[in-house]
Amino acid sequence: MTTTSPRKILVTSALPYANGAIHIGHLVEYIQTDIWVRFQKSRGHTCHYVCADDTHGTPIMLRAEKEGITPEALIARVHGEHSRDFAGFHVGFDNYYSTNSAENREFACDIYKKLKANGKIASRTINQLYDPVKSMFLPDRFVKGECPKCGAKDQYGDNCESCGATYSPTELKNPYSAVSGATPEMRESEHYFFKLGECEDFLKGWTNTPGKLQAEAANKMQEWFESGLSDWDISRDAPYFGFEIPDAPGKYFYVWLDAPVGYMASHKNLCDRLGIDFDEYWKKDSTTELYHFIGKDILYFHALFWPAMLEYAGYRTPTAINTHGFLTVDGAKMSKSRGTFITAESYLNHLNPEWLRYYFAAKLSNTFEDIDLNLEDFTARVNSDLIGKYINIASRAAGFITKRFEGKLAADLSGVELLNKLQAASEGIAAHYDAREYSRAIREIMALTDEVNQFVDQNKPWEMAKQEGQEANLQRVCSILINAFRLLTIYLKPVLPKLSNDVEAFLNIPPLQWADAQNLLLDHSINAYNHLMVRIDPKNIEAMVEENKQSLAPIEAPAAAKAAPSFEIAPIAETCSIDDFMKVDLRIALIANAQHVEGAEKLLQLTLDLGNETRNVFAGIKSAYKPEDLIGKHTVMVANLAPRKMKFGMSEGMVLAAGGDGGLYILEPHAGAKPGMRVK
Ligand code: MSP
Ligand code: ZN
Repeated sequence: MTTTSPRKILVTSALPYANGAIHIGHLVEYIQTDIWVRFQKSRGHTCHYVCADDTHGTPIMLRAEKEGITPEALIARVHGEHSRDFAGFHVGFDNYYSTNSAENREFACDIYKKLKANGKIASRTINQLYDPVKSMFLPDRFVKGECPKCGAKDQYGDNCESCGATYSPTELKNPYSAVSGATPEMRESEHYFFKLGECEDFLKGWTNTPGKLQAEAANKMQEWFESGLSDWDISRDAPYFGFEIPDAPGKYFYVWLDAPVGYMASHKNLCDRLGIDFDEYWKKDSTTELYHFIGKDILYFHALFWPAMLEYAGYRTPTAINTHGFLTVDGAKMSKSRGTFITAESYLNHLNPEWLRYYFAAKLSNTFEDIDLNLEDFTARVNSDLIGKYINIASRAAGFITKRFEGKLAADLSGVELLNKLQAASEGIAAHYDAREYSRAIREIMALTDEVNQFVDQNKPWEMAKQEGQEANLQRVCSILINAFRLLTIYLKPVLPKLSNDVEAFLNIPPLQWADAQNLLLDHSINAYNHLMVRIDPKNIEAMVEENKQSLAPIEAPAAAKAAPSFEIAPIAETCSIDDFMKVDLRIALIANAQHVEGAEKLLQLTLDLGNETRNVFAGIKSAYKPEDLIGKHTVMVANLAPRKMKFGMSEGMVLAAGGDGGLYILEPHAGAKPGMRVK
C-alpha cells in the first residue's frame, strides 16, 4: 500500500522487560520497527512510534529485592539503561514510557471494568503452590525440582530442559521454592479470569480478515482454535509488583494484562504532551492505522488476548500484527559462554550501530523466519556493500568537485540515463519497505549501486582529471555521481539515519525526504568530503565477543543464575571428598597493586603477592571495587588454578568472592594472616 494521501499511523514494538539488558536479539525488533517508522515519516505520513518498559510482575519484584532496592528504583535505573541503548542504535521512539504509570493504571482499570460490565470476567478458586517461608504464591518458573519424566534435577515447574517434557509444577518430584528453598504447599486462592472462550467467534472473524496476520500466524491461530481457547487467569495474589484490581483488594493484575495496555498509555502520554487527539486513534471505528511489531514468542498475547480485550472494552482493534522470527548468532542460539549473547551496550563499545542496522535490513523479510547474524558474513557484507560500493561513490567524486570546481555541481543533468533509472526505482523500493520486505529493498538498492560503480569505471574521472579540455566533462561525471549518491542515500535513509544526516551536511542540504528523489541537486555548492564511514575491523568483533565472555569470568555469578530473574540461593553442590578439596591450593595473598585494564569493562588487573612470588590476575570485580581501595588488602586466591590466557594477558589464578547480581564481595582474612599461608 503506497497511497499518496497522508496516513495516520500508530506503531509499537513490544515492551521489553525492565529486569534485563537490551541485547542484539531484541534489536532485531526495534530496528525492524524503527526502519518502517522512518520510512513512513519520510513518505510524509503522520506516524507515531511508542514503546515503554514492561515493569510489573514477580521477577521484577524479586530482582529488586535481591538488589536491596525498591522495584521503583530498579525500573527507574533500567529505564535509563534501555533508553540509552535504544538511542545508541538510533531507535527513534516518539515516546518511551513505562507501564508503571498513572495513564496505564487508568486504562488497565478502565478496560477491566468494561470487560466486567460486558460479562467477560469470571472468578473462581484455584489451587496453587505456595512458599510458606516467603509467604507468597509461586509462579511456575519459581518452583523447581526433579523432572517427573526423566528425573533430571533442578528443573523448572513448567518444562524440563533435559528431556523437553512439559508438565505442571505440582508434578515435580521433591519440589522446592526457587525463592527460599522451602518445600511448597498447595493452597487455595480466588483468581479472576478473562473469558476468552466466549470471544471465539469474534477472534475467528478478526484473524481471518485479510491483512491482519501473516500466513504463518494465521496457521498458528488455527491450531490454537482447534485445541480450544481456555479462560485466561488475569489476577495474582499479593505480594506482587503491579496494579491492584479496583474491586478486589489484595489481588493484582497479572503483568500480561497491563503490558499491552502500556501501548495505549504511552500513546496517551505522547498525545497529552503534543496536543494530539488520542480518541481519534483508539475509538471503535477509528480510520487511523495501528500496527504492533512483535516476536513470534508473544503472538498468543497479541493476536488473541489483546484484540479480544480491545473489542469487548469498546476500543478499536489493531490494523495488523507484524511478527518476526528470532535471532541466532553464527547459526546457534545466543550463548553467554561463547560470547554471542551480545548486549547492546557491549556492541556499542566496539562497533558502529548502523552496521548492524544495515545487516538486519539486508536479512529481514515479512515472515517468521529466524535470522542469523553470522559474524564473518556481517563483516564481509558491510565492508563490501556499504563501504566498497556505496560510500565509495562519494569518496571517488567529491574530491574533484571540491578541488577543481570550488564545490559546485553542474547546472544541467537532464537526460542522464543512470539518474533516470535511479529515480524510477523509487516507488518499487518504497513498496518493499512498506511491505516490510527490507531484504528486497536492499537488494534493489545494491543492484543500483553496482550500476553506479560501473558508470565510474566506464568514465574514469581520475583519467579525465589528467586530460586537458575535459573540465566540463569531469564536472558533469562527478556531479552525476554525487547525485546518484544522494538518491541512494534517500533510499537507505530509513536504515542509516545517522549516516544520512552526515551526508546531508556534506551535501549542504536540508533533511532528505522520500519525495526528494524526484528532483536533482544542480548548480549547488557542496562541502568538502570527510570520511563518512570506516570498514569493520574483525579485531573489534573479537573484542566485543571477548567482552561478552568476560561477563562469565569465574568470579561472577554463573550464567544461569544471572539469566534467571529469580532470587535464588543455589542448591549446595554434590558432596566432594577431602582429597578433592585439597587439590585446590588456596593461599593468602596481599594485593600489592590493582589497576584498571584499558578496554575491559569488567576487569581489574591485580598483582598478588604470595610471599615468595607474585601473580598477575585479571578479576571481574570492576563493578564492585575501585583499585585504590584494594591495594594493601589481603585476600584469598586459588594459587594452583591453570593459567588462563585472556585478551589482556595471562591470568595466573583467581581471587575468591561471594555474591553475583546482588553485589560482589571479595574475601578478606582476619588480621594476622600472612601472604603465602595456605587456607584449608
Ligand atoms: N515484556 C514482553 C512484551 C510485552 S508487549 C506488551 C516481552 N519482553 S522481552 O523483553 O522478553 O522481549 C521483547 C521483544 O523482543 C519481544 O517481541 C521478543 O520476541 C523480542 N526478542 C527477544 N529476544 C529475541 C531474539 N533473540 N530474537 C528476536 N527477537 C527477540 O516479551
Ligand atoms: Zn526431563
